[in-house]
Amino acid sequence: MTQDELKALVGRAALDFVPEGAIVGVGTGSTVNHFIDALAGIRQRIAGAVSSSEASSARLRAHGIPVLEAAAVQRLPVYIDGADEIDGSGCMIKGGGAALTREKIVADLAERFVCIADESKQVPVLGRFPLPVEVIPMAVAQLVRRFAALGGSATLREGVRTDNGLPILDVRGLSITDPPAMEAEVNQWPGVVTVGIFARHRASVCLLGTRDGVRRLDFASLPSAG
Ligand code: 5RP
Repeated sequence: MTQDELKALVGRAALDFVPEGAIVGVGTGSTVNHFIDALAGIRQRIAGAVSSSEASSARLRAHGIPVLEAAAVQRLPVYIDGADEIDGSGCMIKGGGAALTREKIVADLAERFVCIADESKQVPVLGRFPLPVEVIPMAVAQLVRRFAALGGSATLREGVRTDNGLPILDVRGLSITDPPAMEAEVNQWPGVVTVGIFARHRASVCLLGTRDGVRRLDFASLPSAG
């Protein structure tokens, strides 16, 4: 199976996590695109979606699935999204598609985060994939210095602005052995809008696409997560 076929497999498998009549939280990326296409087949059975990007919203609407504003909902039963890396406790690096801020906002509304990913995304320690950080332009030089002090090399993602109109720093060379601590630390730095470590909003479940089929991984939530 190709990587894209593995993504399609888990995109379809995620339908099992969509409750009847639900408003569904929908992420961003090529794996989620497969999920959206599968969701179209059951669109009469859901009330709509809250989306984490303009790209996903456009795809949902093209399939006739109503897209609601995040402000219109208080709680979502489930948020379904991909990841760039996922570790053994369900912590993730996200933001390869530059949608990390809206992804964290929609994940925060959800009872559970179902991560859908092909098996190449599973890692023992986060950090081989460059860590995306959405930032305020004025803070870029200082943030580059702060990451350098941690052993990371931060560079601006060329020609990219997020749906919020902001740049992304990609940080290479980090080994993120304590994702909750690093997420909390980087979140405090002035000028950081969102760091692409999803530890507080880690996955509750991961559907991993493997050559032997879909492998389900269940994770305990952080005791302090609200
Ligand atoms: C977008 C994301 C995506 O979930 C992540 O980049 C994985 O993408 P793909 O499913 O295309 O491999 O975080 O910001």
